[in-house]
Amino acid sequence: MNYLLEGNAAVVGLQWGDEGKGKIVDYLAENAEVVARYCGGANAGHSVRINGVKYATHLLPVGIFRPNVVNCIGNGVVLDPAVLFHEIDEFLKLGVPISPANLKVSYKAHLVMPHHMQEDAARENKAGAGGIGTTKRGIGPTYADKMQRTTAIRVADLLHEDKLKSRVERIVVDRNKQLAAMYDSPPIDWKATYGLYRDYGRRIAPFVDDVGQILIDAARERKRILFEGAHAALLDVDHGTYPYVTSSSCSALGIFSGCGVPPAIVRNYIGIMKAYSTRVGGGPFPTEQDNDTGNYIRERGNEYGTTTRRPRRCGWFDAVAVKYSVALQGITAIAITLLDVLSGLDHLQICTGYRVNGQRVDLFRADMDVLEDAQPIYETLPGWRGNITTCRRFEELPREAQQYVKRLETLVGAPIKIVSVGPDRSATIMR
Ligand code: IMP
Repeated sequence: MNYLLEGNAAVVGLQWGDEGKGKIVDYLAENAEVVARYCGGANAGHSVRINGVKYATHLLPVGIFRPNVVNCIGNGVVLDPAVLFHEIDEFLKLGVPISPANLKVSYKAHLVMPHHMQEDAARENKAGAGGIGTTKRGIGPTYADKMQRTTAIRVADLLHEDKLKSRVERIVVDRNKQLAAMYDSPPIDWKATYGLYRDYGRRIAPFVDDVGQILIDAARERKRILFEGAHAALLDVDHGTYPYVTSSSCSALGIFSGCGVPPAIVRNYIGIMKAYSTRVGGGPFPTEQDNDTGNYIRERGNEYGTTTRRPRRCGWFDAVAVKYSVALQGITAIAITLLDVLSGLDHLQICTGYRVNGQRVDLFRADMDVLEDAQPIYETLPGWRGNITTCRRFEELPREAQQYVKRLETLVGAPIKIVSVGPDRSATIMR
Protein backbone atom coordinates (compact mmCIF):
# COMPACT_ATOMS: atom_id res chain seq x y z
CA MET A 1 0.00 0.00 0.00
CA ASN A 2 1.27 3.46 -0.83
CA TYR A 3 2.03 5.25 2.45
CA LEU A 4 0.82 8.55 0.95
CA LEU A 5 -2.76 7.25 1.27
CA GLU A 6 -2.55 6.53 4.99
CA GLY A 7 -4.88 8.96 6.75
CA ASN A 8 -6.30 9.89 3.34
CA ALA A 9 -4.79 12.17 0.75
CA ALA A 10 -5.55 15.00 -1.61
CA VAL A 11 -3.93 15.59 -4.99
CA VAL A 12 -3.86 19.29 -5.83
CA GLY A 13 -2.24 21.57 -8.41
CA LEU A 14 0.62 23.90 -7.46
CA GLN A 15 0.65 26.05 -10.62
CA TRP A 16 -2.00 27.13 -13.16
CA GLY A 17 -3.48 23.69 -13.84
CA ASP A 18 -2.54 20.96 -16.30
CA GLU A 19 0.24 19.72 -14.02
CA GLY A 20 -0.59 16.07 -14.69
CA LYS A 21 -2.85 15.51 -11.68
CA GLY A 22 -4.78 12.87 -13.64
CA LYS A 23 -1.78 10.59 -13.96
CA ILE A 24 -0.87 10.88 -10.27
CA VAL A 25 -4.48 10.35 -9.11
CA ASP A 26 -4.64 7.24 -11.30
CA TYR A 27 -1.32 6.03 -9.90
CA LEU A 28 -2.44 6.49 -6.27
CA ALA A 29 -5.98 5.25 -6.93
CA GLU A 30 -4.59 1.74 -7.25
CA ASN A 31 -4.68 1.66 -3.43
CA ALA A 32 -7.67 3.93 -2.85
CA GLU A 33 -11.21 2.86 -2.09
CA VAL A 34 -12.90 6.20 -2.72
CA VAL A 35 -11.93 9.05 -5.08
CA ALA A 36 -13.78 12.37 -4.81
CA ARG A 37 -13.82 15.54 -6.90
CA TYR A 38 -14.65 18.76 -5.10
CA CYS A 39 -14.40 21.72 -7.47
CA GLY A 40 -14.79 22.99 -11.01
CA GLY A 41 -16.67 21.36 -13.81
CA ALA A 42 -16.16 20.38 -17.42
CA ASN A 43 -13.52 23.12 -17.72
CA ALA A 44 -11.12 20.58 -16.20
CA GLY A 45 -9.39 17.95 -18.28
CA HIS A 46 -7.57 15.07 -16.65
CA SER A 47 -5.77 12.62 -18.85
CA VAL A 48 -4.54 9.17 -18.05
CA ARG A 49 -2.64 6.71 -20.23
CA ILE A 50 -3.28 3.06 -19.50
CA ASN A 51 -1.45 0.43 -21.57
CA GLY A 52 -0.78 3.00 -24.29
CA VAL A 53 -4.45 4.13 -24.55
CA LYS A 54 -5.15 7.74 -23.59
CA TYR A 55 -8.38 8.56 -21.72
CA ALA A 56 -9.45 12.13 -20.92
CA THR A 57 -12.04 12.91 -18.25
CA HIS A 58 -13.70 16.26 -17.62
CA LEU A 59 -16.21 15.46 -14.90
CA LEU A 60 -15.69 11.85 -13.90
CA PRO A 61 -13.11 11.31 -11.17
CA VAL A 62 -10.06 9.47 -12.46
CA GLY A 63 -10.68 6.63 -10.00
CA ILE A 64 -13.27 5.43 -12.54
CA PHE A 65 -10.49 3.42 -14.23
CA ARG A 66 -9.86 1.39 -11.07
CA PRO A 67 -12.44 -1.39 -10.64
CA ASN A 68 -12.80 -1.28 -6.85
CA VAL A 69 -13.01 2.47 -6.38
CA VAL A 70 -16.20 4.35 -5.51
CA ASN A 71 -16.09 7.72 -7.30
CA CYS A 72 -17.81 10.77 -5.88
CA ILE A 73 -18.72 14.08 -7.48
CA GLY A 74 -18.99 16.55 -4.60
CA ASN A 75 -21.32 19.50 -4.08
CA GLY A 76 -18.56 21.94 -5.04
CA VAL A 77 -18.58 20.69 -8.63
CA VAL A 78 -20.74 22.37 -11.27
CA LEU A 79 -22.23 19.65 -13.38
CA ASP A 80 -23.06 19.81 -17.07
CA PRO A 81 -25.20 16.66 -17.48
CA ALA A 82 -24.59 16.57 -21.25
CA VAL A 83 -20.85 16.28 -20.69
CA LEU A 84 -21.28 13.76 -17.87
CA PHE A 85 -23.46 11.41 -19.92
CA HIS A 86 -21.27 11.80 -23.01
CA GLU A 87 -18.27 10.82 -20.90
CA ILE A 88 -20.10 7.87 -19.33
CA ASP A 89 -21.28 6.60 -22.74
CA GLU A 90 -17.81 6.91 -24.28
CA PHE A 91 -16.14 5.02 -21.44
CA LEU A 92 -18.85 2.33 -21.34
CA LYS A 93 -18.14 1.70 -25.04
CA LEU A 94 -14.46 1.27 -24.18
CA GLY A 95 -15.34 -1.30 -21.53
CA VAL A 96 -14.94 0.90 -18.43
CA PRO A 97 -17.70 -0.19 -16.01
CA ILE A 98 -19.75 2.76 -14.70
CA SER A 99 -22.91 2.31 -12.62
CA PRO A 100 -24.53 3.69 -9.46
CA ALA A 101 -22.32 1.23 -7.58
CA ASN A 102 -19.11 3.09 -8.48
CA LEU A 103 -20.35 6.62 -9.22
CA LYS A 104 -22.14 8.89 -6.74
CA VAL A 105 -23.24 12.43 -7.54
CA SER A 106 -24.00 14.91 -4.78
CA TYR A 107 -27.59 16.09 -4.66
CA LYS A 108 -26.18 19.48 -3.69
CA ALA A 109 -24.08 19.99 -6.82
CA HIS A 110 -25.15 22.84 -9.09
CA LEU A 111 -26.11 22.43 -12.73
CA VAL A 112 -24.63 24.18 -15.71
CA MET A 113 -27.54 25.26 -17.93
CA PRO A 114 -27.55 26.32 -21.61
CA HIS A 115 -27.90 29.98 -20.60
CA HIS A 116 -24.71 29.73 -18.54
CA MET A 117 -22.72 28.64 -21.56
CA GLN A 118 -24.36 31.31 -23.69
CA GLU A 119 -23.49 33.99 -21.15
CA ASP A 120 -19.90 32.80 -20.72
CA ALA A 121 -19.29 32.85 -24.49
CA ALA A 122 -21.09 36.18 -25.04
CA ARG A 123 -19.12 37.87 -22.25
CA GLU A 124 -15.80 36.52 -23.54
CA ASN A 125 -16.56 37.38 -27.17
CA LYS A 126 -17.54 40.92 -26.24
CA ALA A 127 -14.40 41.41 -24.14
CA GLY A 128 -12.16 40.13 -26.96
CA ALA A 129 -8.47 40.26 -26.05
CA GLY A 130 -9.41 41.84 -22.70
CA GLY A 131 -11.34 38.74 -21.60
CA ILE A 132 -10.27 36.13 -19.08
CA GLY A 133 -9.84 33.50 -21.78
CA THR A 134 -12.31 31.10 -20.18
CA THR A 135 -13.10 27.63 -21.52
CA LYS A 136 -16.65 28.90 -22.33
CA ARG A 137 -18.10 25.93 -20.43
CA GLY A 138 -20.43 28.19 -18.43
CA ILE A 139 -18.42 27.80 -15.22
CA GLY A 140 -18.35 31.42 -14.00
CA PRO A 141 -22.07 32.11 -14.62
CA THR A 142 -23.07 28.84 -12.87
CA TYR A 143 -21.09 29.69 -9.74
CA ALA A 144 -22.45 33.25 -9.88
CA ASP A 145 -26.00 31.85 -9.82
CA LYS A 146 -25.05 29.51 -6.98
CA MET A 147 -24.14 32.55 -4.89
CA GLN A 148 -27.18 34.45 -6.17
CA ARG A 149 -29.30 31.48 -4.94
CA THR A 150 -32.72 32.21 -6.44
CA THR A 151 -31.46 31.72 -10.00
CA ALA A 152 -29.65 28.42 -9.46
CA ILE A 153 -30.67 24.83 -10.15
CA ARG A 154 -29.15 21.93 -8.24
CA VAL A 155 -29.03 18.21 -8.94
CA ALA A 156 -31.71 17.67 -6.26
CA ASP A 157 -34.09 19.92 -8.23
CA LEU A 158 -33.98 17.47 -11.13
CA LEU A 159 -35.74 14.91 -8.98
CA HIS A 160 -38.89 17.03 -8.58
CA GLU A 161 -40.22 17.46 -12.09
CA ASP A 162 -43.16 19.77 -11.41
CA LYS A 163 -41.15 22.23 -9.40
CA LEU A 164 -38.32 21.95 -11.92
CA LYS A 165 -40.65 23.03 -14.71
CA SER A 166 -41.74 26.28 -13.10
CA ARG A 167 -38.20 26.98 -11.92
CA VAL A 168 -36.69 26.53 -15.38
CA GLU A 169 -39.44 28.69 -16.92
CA ARG A 170 -38.89 31.57 -14.50
CA ILE A 171 -35.12 31.48 -14.68
CA VAL A 172 -34.75 31.05 -18.45
CA VAL A 173 -37.40 33.66 -19.34
CA ASP A 174 -35.71 36.23 -17.07
CA ARG A 175 -32.22 35.38 -18.27
CA ASN A 176 -33.30 35.67 -21.92
CA LYS A 177 -34.27 39.29 -21.27
CA GLN A 178 -30.95 40.06 -19.60
CA LEU A 179 -28.83 38.36 -22.25
CA ALA A 180 -30.76 39.97 -25.11
CA ALA A 181 -30.29 43.41 -23.56
CA MET A 182 -26.64 42.94 -22.74
CA TYR A 183 -25.31 40.87 -25.63
CA ASP A 184 -28.10 40.71 -28.19
CA SER A 185 -28.20 36.95 -27.54
CA PRO A 186 -30.97 34.87 -29.16
CA PRO A 187 -33.57 33.56 -26.68
CA ILE A 188 -33.31 30.05 -25.26
CA ASP A 189 -36.47 27.94 -25.46
CA TRP A 190 -37.37 27.26 -21.81
CA LYS A 191 -39.70 24.35 -22.68
CA ALA A 192 -36.97 22.57 -24.63
CA THR A 193 -34.54 23.23 -21.75
CA TYR A 194 -37.01 21.81 -19.27
CA GLY A 195 -37.52 18.69 -21.42
CA LEU A 196 -33.79 18.16 -21.70
CA TYR A 197 -33.11 18.56 -17.98
CA ARG A 198 -36.15 16.47 -17.00
CA ASP A 199 -34.66 13.64 -19.07
CA TYR A 200 -31.23 14.19 -17.54
CA GLY A 201 -32.91 14.00 -14.14
CA ARG A 202 -34.47 10.62 -14.94
CA ARG A 203 -31.11 9.27 -16.03
CA ILE A 204 -29.06 10.75 -13.20
CA ALA A 205 -31.50 9.77 -10.40
CA PRO A 206 -29.88 6.39 -9.54
CA PHE A 207 -26.48 8.08 -9.17
CA VAL A 208 -27.68 10.89 -6.88
CA ASP A 209 -26.61 10.50 -3.26
CA ASP A 210 -25.43 12.25 -0.11
CA VAL A 211 -21.75 12.44 -0.99
CA GLY A 212 -20.69 14.20 2.22
CA GLN A 213 -22.22 11.42 4.32
CA ILE A 214 -20.68 8.71 2.12
CA LEU A 215 -17.23 10.24 2.66
CA ILE A 216 -17.69 10.72 6.39
CA ASP A 217 -18.84 7.09 6.74
CA ALA A 218 -15.93 5.91 4.58
CA ALA A 219 -13.48 7.80 6.80
CA ARG A 220 -15.01 6.24 9.93
CA GLU A 221 -14.64 2.81 8.36
CA ARG A 222 -10.99 3.68 7.64
CA LYS A 223 -11.44 3.36 3.91
CA ARG A 224 -8.69 5.07 1.95
CA ILE A 225 -10.00 8.26 0.38
CA LEU A 226 -8.28 10.31 -2.30
CA PHE A 227 -9.52 13.82 -3.08
CA GLU A 228 -8.92 14.76 -6.69
CA GLY A 229 -8.26 18.46 -7.21
CA ALA A 230 -9.03 20.08 -10.54
CA HIS A 231 -7.31 23.27 -11.79
CA ALA A 232 -4.82 24.55 -9.20
CA ALA A 233 -3.96 26.95 -6.38
CA LEU A 234 -3.02 29.82 -8.72
CA LEU A 235 -6.45 29.54 -10.40
CA ASP A 236 -8.34 29.55 -7.07
CA VAL A 237 -11.01 32.26 -7.00
CA ASP A 238 -9.74 33.66 -3.69
CA HIS A 239 -6.05 32.85 -3.69
CA GLY A 240 -5.08 32.76 -7.37
CA THR A 241 -4.11 35.47 -9.83
CA TYR A 242 -7.52 37.15 -9.66
CA PRO A 243 -9.35 37.99 -11.90
CA TYR A 244 -7.50 35.56 -14.20
CA VAL A 245 -8.72 32.54 -12.26
CA THR A 246 -11.52 30.05 -12.47
CA SER A 247 -14.63 30.56 -10.33
CA SER A 248 -14.21 27.80 -7.75
CA SER A 249 -12.18 27.18 -4.59
CA CYS A 250 -9.85 24.86 -6.44
CA SER A 251 -6.94 24.90 -4.02
CA ALA A 252 -6.90 22.27 -1.25
CA LEU A 253 -8.85 24.75 0.87
CA GLY A 254 -11.96 23.98 -1.19
CA ILE A 255 -12.02 20.26 -0.34
CA PHE A 256 -14.06 20.59 2.83
CA SER A 257 -16.79 22.90 1.60
CA GLY A 258 -16.72 21.23 -1.83
CA CYS A 259 -17.38 17.75 -0.47
CA GLY A 260 -19.03 18.44 2.89
CA VAL A 261 -16.32 16.86 5.05
CA PRO A 262 -14.33 18.10 8.07
CA PRO A 263 -10.66 19.14 7.56
CA ALA A 264 -9.30 16.39 9.83
CA ILE A 265 -10.29 13.86 7.16
CA VAL A 266 -7.14 14.54 5.11
CA ARG A 267 -3.62 13.98 6.38
CA ASN A 268 -1.53 14.06 3.22
CA TYR A 269 -1.58 16.89 0.73
CA ILE A 270 0.21 15.91 -2.45
CA GLY A 271 1.05 18.90 -4.61
CA ILE A 272 1.59 18.32 -8.31
CA MET A 273 3.90 20.55 -10.29
CA LYS A 274 5.41 20.46 -13.72
CA ALA A 275 9.18 20.73 -14.09
CA TYR A 276 8.43 24.06 -15.86
CA SER A 277 5.37 26.37 -15.98
CA THR A 278 2.37 26.68 -18.28
CA ARG A 279 -0.89 28.57 -18.31
CA VAL A 280 -3.89 28.76 -20.64
CA GLY A 281 -5.92 31.89 -21.20
CA GLY A 282 -5.04 35.39 -20.02
CA GLY A 283 -3.29 36.63 -16.91
CA PRO A 284 0.16 37.37 -15.54
CA PHE A 285 2.90 34.81 -16.11
CA PRO A 286 6.29 36.30 -15.09
CA THR A 287 8.45 33.42 -16.40
CA GLU A 288 6.69 33.05 -19.77
CA GLN A 289 9.01 32.23 -22.69
CA ASP A 290 7.31 33.42 -25.85
CA ASN A 291 10.30 32.19 -27.89
CA ASP A 292 12.13 29.07 -29.08
CA THR A 293 12.46 27.71 -25.53
CA GLY A 294 8.70 28.04 -24.99
CA ASN A 295 8.04 26.37 -28.35
CA TYR A 296 10.45 23.54 -27.52
CA ILE A 297 8.63 22.88 -24.24
CA ARG A 298 5.19 23.14 -25.91
CA GLU A 299 5.99 20.59 -28.61
CA ARG A 300 7.86 18.11 -26.41
CA GLY A 301 5.26 18.39 -23.64
CA ASN A 302 2.27 18.41 -26.03
CA GLU A 303 1.15 21.53 -24.24
CA TYR A 304 -2.25 21.94 -25.85
CA GLY A 305 -5.41 22.14 -23.73
CA THR A 306 -7.18 18.84 -22.94
CA THR A 307 -10.53 20.67 -22.91
CA THR A 308 -10.11 23.36 -25.59
CA ARG A 309 -6.96 22.27 -27.51
CA ARG A 310 -5.65 25.85 -27.11
CA PRO A 311 -1.83 26.07 -27.22
CA ARG A 312 -0.62 26.61 -23.66
CA ARG A 313 1.74 29.45 -22.77
CA CYS A 314 5.04 27.91 -21.60
CA GLY A 315 7.88 29.17 -19.42
CA TRP A 316 10.53 28.43 -16.80
CA PHE A 317 9.75 27.03 -13.37
CA ASP A 318 8.58 29.74 -10.98
CA ALA A 319 9.73 28.78 -7.49
CA VAL A 320 8.25 31.95 -5.95
CA ALA A 321 4.75 31.04 -7.13
CA VAL A 322 5.05 27.36 -6.19
CA LYS A 323 6.43 28.15 -2.72
CA TYR A 324 3.27 30.19 -2.16
CA SER A 325 1.04 27.30 -3.32
CA VAL A 326 2.92 24.84 -1.10
CA ALA A 327 2.45 27.01 1.99
CA LEU A 328 -1.18 27.88 1.21
CA GLN A 329 -2.19 24.24 0.90
CA GLY A 330 -0.03 22.68 3.61
CA ILE A 331 1.66 20.41 1.09
CA THR A 332 3.28 17.36 2.67
CA ALA A 333 4.72 15.75 -0.50
CA ILE A 334 5.25 16.81 -4.09
CA ALA A 335 5.02 14.93 -7.37
CA ILE A 336 7.03 16.55 -10.15
CA THR A 337 5.76 15.72 -13.63
CA LEU A 338 7.03 16.07 -17.20
CA LEU A 339 10.69 16.12 -16.16
CA ASP A 340 11.46 14.26 -19.42
CA VAL A 341 10.22 17.25 -21.45
CA LEU A 342 13.23 19.32 -20.38
CA SER A 343 15.81 16.82 -21.73
CA GLY A 344 17.95 18.37 -24.45
CA LEU A 345 18.06 21.95 -23.14
CA ASP A 346 21.61 23.22 -22.47
CA HIS A 347 20.61 25.25 -19.44
CA LEU A 348 17.55 25.50 -17.22
CA GLN A 349 16.40 28.64 -15.47
CA ILE A 350 14.52 28.72 -12.18
CA CYS A 351 12.83 31.90 -11.00
CA THR A 352 13.84 32.51 -7.39
CA GLY A 353 12.53 36.05 -6.93
CA TYR A 354 10.98 38.99 -8.77
CA ARG A 355 12.11 42.52 -9.28
CA VAL A 356 9.16 44.87 -8.74
CA ASN A 357 9.68 48.64 -9.01
CA GLY A 358 13.41 48.10 -8.70
CA GLN A 359 13.07 46.09 -5.44
CA ARG A 360 13.72 42.36 -5.02
CA VAL A 361 10.61 40.48 -3.87
CA ASP A 362 10.77 36.88 -2.65
CA LEU A 363 7.14 36.36 -1.69
CA PHE A 364 4.36 35.80 -4.20
CA ARG A 365 1.53 38.31 -4.12
CA ALA A 366 -1.66 37.35 -5.94
CA ASP A 367 -2.20 40.92 -7.06
CA MET A 368 -2.38 41.75 -10.74
CA ASP A 369 -0.74 45.15 -10.37
CA VAL A 370 2.29 43.62 -8.69
CA LEU A 371 2.55 40.58 -10.97
CA GLU A 372 2.23 42.53 -14.20
CA ASP A 373 5.37 44.46 -13.28
CA ALA A 374 7.28 41.51 -11.85
CA GLN A 375 10.58 40.78 -13.63
CA PRO A 376 11.85 37.29 -12.83
CA ILE A 377 15.24 36.84 -11.20
CA TYR A 378 16.73 33.57 -12.39
CA GLU A 379 19.17 31.00 -11.15
CA THR A 380 20.72 28.91 -13.96
CA LEU A 381 21.36 25.17 -13.73
CA PRO A 382 22.96 22.85 -16.29
CA GLY A 383 20.60 20.79 -18.47
CA TRP A 384 20.93 17.12 -19.48
CA ARG A 385 20.61 15.10 -22.67
CA GLY A 386 19.18 11.73 -23.53
CA ASN A 387 15.93 9.91 -22.96
CA ILE A 388 15.00 9.63 -19.27
CA THR A 389 11.56 8.08 -19.78
CA THR A 390 12.87 4.60 -19.04
CA CYS A 391 14.44 5.53 -15.68
CA ARG A 392 12.65 3.84 -12.76
CA ARG A 393 14.94 4.80 -9.90
CA PHE A 394 15.97 8.34 -8.93
CA GLU A 395 19.65 7.37 -9.10
CA GLU A 396 19.23 6.33 -12.77
CA LEU A 397 18.45 9.93 -13.76
CA PRO A 398 21.34 12.03 -15.16
CA ARG A 399 23.19 13.83 -12.38
CA GLU A 400 21.97 17.21 -13.66
CA ALA A 401 18.31 16.08 -13.55
CA GLN A 402 18.75 14.89 -9.95
CA GLN A 403 20.38 18.21 -9.11
CA TYR A 404 17.47 20.13 -10.69
CA VAL A 405 14.86 18.17 -8.69
CA LYS A 406 16.79 18.61 -5.43
CA ARG A 407 17.16 22.34 -6.01
CA LEU A 408 13.44 22.74 -6.67
CA GLU A 409 12.48 20.92 -3.50
CA THR A 410 14.74 23.17 -1.44
CA LEU A 411 13.32 26.29 -3.07
CA VAL A 412 9.62 25.43 -2.74
CA GLY A 413 9.76 23.98 0.77
CA ALA A 414 8.37 20.44 0.51
CA PRO A 415 9.89 17.05 -0.35
CA ILE A 416 9.56 15.73 -3.89
CA LYS A 417 8.46 12.13 -3.37
CA ILE A 418 7.27 11.23 -6.87
CA VAL A 419 9.05 11.94 -10.16
CA SER A 420 7.09 11.34 -13.35
CA VAL A 421 9.18 10.81 -16.47
CA GLY A 422 6.50 9.89 -18.99
CA PRO A 423 2.72 9.61 -19.45
CA ASP A 424 2.36 5.87 -18.71
CA ARG A 425 1.49 4.56 -15.26
CA SER A 426 4.81 2.76 -15.18
CA ALA A 427 6.93 5.86 -15.94
CA THR A 428 6.86 6.88 -12.29
CA ILE A 429 9.68 7.00 -9.75
CA MET A 430 8.87 6.85 -6.01
CA ARG A 431 11.61 8.37 -3.90
P1 IMP B 1 -13.11 29.06 -16.72
O1 IMP B 1 -12.77 28.10 -15.66
O2 IMP B 1 -13.61 28.37 -17.98
O3 IMP B 1 -14.03 30.14 -16.29
O4 IMP B 1 -11.75 29.78 -17.19
C1 IMP B 1 -11.08 30.70 -16.34
C2 IMP B 1 -9.57 30.58 -16.53
O5 IMP B 1 -9.12 29.38 -15.92
C3 IMP B 1 -9.08 30.51 -17.97
O6 IMP B 1 -7.83 31.17 -18.09
C4 IMP B 1 -8.93 29.03 -18.22
O7 IMP B 1 -8.01 28.76 -19.25
C5 IMP B 1 -8.40 28.61 -16.86
N1 IMP B 1 -8.67 27.21 -16.58
C6 IMP B 1 -9.82 26.67 -16.14
N2 IMP B 1 -9.68 25.36 -15.94
C7 IMP B 1 -8.42 25.06 -16.23
C8 IMP B 1 -7.65 23.85 -16.17
O8 IMP B 1 -8.12 22.77 -15.78
N3 IMP B 1 -6.36 23.95 -16.58
C9 IMP B 1 -5.80 25.11 -16.96
N4 IMP B 1 -6.46 26.26 -17.01
C10 IMP B 1 -7.76 26.24 -16.64
